[in-house]
Amino acid sequence: MSRLAGRTAIVTGGAVGIGRHYSEALAAQGAEVMVADIVDGAAVAAEIAAKYGRNSTASAIFDVSDEKQVKGLIAKTMERFGKIDILINNAALYAPLPTLKVEEIDVELWDRVMAINIRGPFLMVKHVVPHMIARKYGKIVNIGSGTVARGIPNFSHYVTSKGAVTAFTRTISRELGEHGICVNTLAPGYTLSETGLKNATHVAQSKASSIQRRALKRDEYPEDLVGTLIYLCSSDSDFVTGQVLAVDGGANNT
Ligand SMILES: NC(=O)c1ccc[n+]([C@@H]2O[C@H](COP(=O)([O-])OP(=O)(O)OC[C@H]3O[C@@H](n4cnc5c(N)ncnc54)[C@H](O)[C@@H]3O)[C@@H](O)[C@H]2O)c1
Repeated sequence: MSRLAGRTAIVTGGAVGIGRHYSEALAAQGAEVMVADIVDGAAVAAEIAAKYGRNSTASAIFDVSDEKQVKGLIAKTMERFGKIDILINNAALYAPLPTLKVEEIDVELWDRVMAINIRGPFLMVKHVVPHMIARKYGKIVNIGSGTVARGIPNFSHYVTSKGAVTAFTRTISRELGEHGICVNTLAPGYTLSETGLKNATHVAQSKASSIQRRALKRDEYPEDLVGTLIYLCSSDSDFVTGQVLAVDGGANNT
């Protein structure tokens, strides 16, 4: 199947964790993919290119919180692929974050979470949309979180940043609709990503209770998210914008 043939996508945080699955899923549907991450995604890009076509994938190392580096990434993507149709705002500080009570969070940590988790998506949108507006087409998927719907204790830095992602989606969907650009939030539940599994505290605190909250009583894996991601990037969702789609086994009703 090639539901995204001829489309070009940027996946931030596309080299590891769930983002790596997004990068591969988009390429599997025929899209050209820029794997953009603070860690080196060259090996992932080469692996995907070997499977789906030599020219289908590129990678770039960048920091999503730095405007100069965001501009550099977008210039590199334009130079390589000539256009940007799809933006997946997936990069975030999540897996390495400690759980902390609100009174224990240092201002530096709070600001760092906001810089990556919400300034990052803002910078990406700011510098990608002129290219989308010029072609009157775009699909932006902001990765939110199920934690926003219920607010979980001892994670206020992260949950607040993801709440801002939902609000950002809603407001820019109304600005960008006239240009043929759809903007939605995909809100995963607690997902056993390769990086998430490395945080033993998260696993101990979240695995069993997540299953209990779900209508569908099992663990969630990155593979559970890709169908909705592709839907939001494809023509099947051309009249869907400003929404939060929860993919969490029915834990939250959004
Ligand atoms: N795993 C879960 O349970 C879960 C649940 C809900 C939402 N999410 C969201 O899904 C996304 C992926 O989560 P994950 O589990 O793969 O976690 P993760 O921490 O492994 O993913 C974060 C990605 O962002 C990249 N990144 C971090 N800082 C960056 C920076 N400054 N510039 C560019 N890239 C940077 C990382 O290298 C990594 O690729 C995140 O937005 C996360 O908030 C995850």
